[in-house]
Amino acid sequence: MKIVVIGGTGLIGSKLVNKLREQGQEAIAASPNSGVNTLTGEGLAEVLQGASVMVDVSNSPSWDDAAVLKFFETSTRNLLSYEAAAGVKHHVALSVVGTDRLSESGYFRAKIAQEKLIKESSIPYSIVHATQFFEFLKGLADISIDGGKVHLPHVLFQPMAADDVASGVARVTVGPPVNGIVEIAGPEQFRLDELVRRRLVALKDPRQVIADPNALYSGAKLSERTLLPNNNARLGQTTFETWLNQSAPRAA
Ligand SMILES: NC(=O)c1ccc[n+]([C@@H]2O[C@H](COP(=O)([O-])OP(=O)(O)OC[C@H]3O[C@@H](n4cnc5c(N)ncnc54)[C@H](OP(=O)(O)O)[C@@H]3O)[C@@H](O)[C@H]2O)c1
Repeated sequence: MKIVVIGGTGLIGSKLVNKLREQGQEAIAASPNSGVNTLTGEGLAEVLQGASVMVDVSNSPSWDDAAVLKFFETSTRNLLSYEAAAGVKHHVALSVVGTDRLSESGYFRAKIAQEKLIKESSIPYSIVHATQFFEFLKGLADISIDGGKVHLPHVLFQPMAADDVASGVARVTVGPPVNGIVEIAGPEQFRLDELVRRRLVALKDPRQVIADPNALYSGAKLSERTLLPNNNARLGQTTFETWLNQSAPRAA
């Protein structure tokens, strides 16, 4: 089966391409680096020719509110239109658990717009909602800085290893379209501020993490369970401790 992975050079995309190839699929990594640009449409007709499935694991280079909205709206419109022309039978996209509850955030308004376009299109689809990646914990600190300190609320979340995200997306990719959302998550729950603090300590990053009930997550106010998956979520196997000891040093 020919499967085009848009964003196939990214964190999740590169792992996904490898996993699909290990399963014997013809997985093509497509991104601006390989001459495929979803914003301009460059290379899309060529790469989608003969493809059965298109998986979108791309991300906007800029997270500025206007730029990220433009990215997900324009690229999703282009993808859906080129997929229809090429006869693609399954549109798979990666989004985030709780997206619909996070509309105060410009980034999540863009993901909501992406999902709406997919749901309204004529192409059968599956949207995978993943929780935060362990690999993103430092990035979370970076976007939560106020006065030199990291401010995060003491709420629950259930993050997961990027490798488990890729496995979850691969499983959906080779299955039939669900025309709905599949949730995937990590095996353990943590407090947001506490796990980011543990990650920074492991990185010997001196920044202090403050548990701040008024702190926003990517611009959105969180309540205790906003970031948690539903009870039907498929859980990855990699614990934070295992990831910290095995994958994190390799990634560094
Ligand atoms: N961070 C989290 O905790 C989290 C949690 C759940 C879901 N997600 C979702 O996961 C997805 C993937 O995230 P990631 O961290 O794997 O992304 P990433 O590592 O930043 O990779 C982004 C990919 O998008 C590609 N790209 C950028 N502009 C493009 C364009 N105009 N046309 C085609 N491809 C383009 C990049 O290609 P080049 O290499 O050529 O630049 C790269 O392959 C995102 O949609 C995000 O919303 C993230």
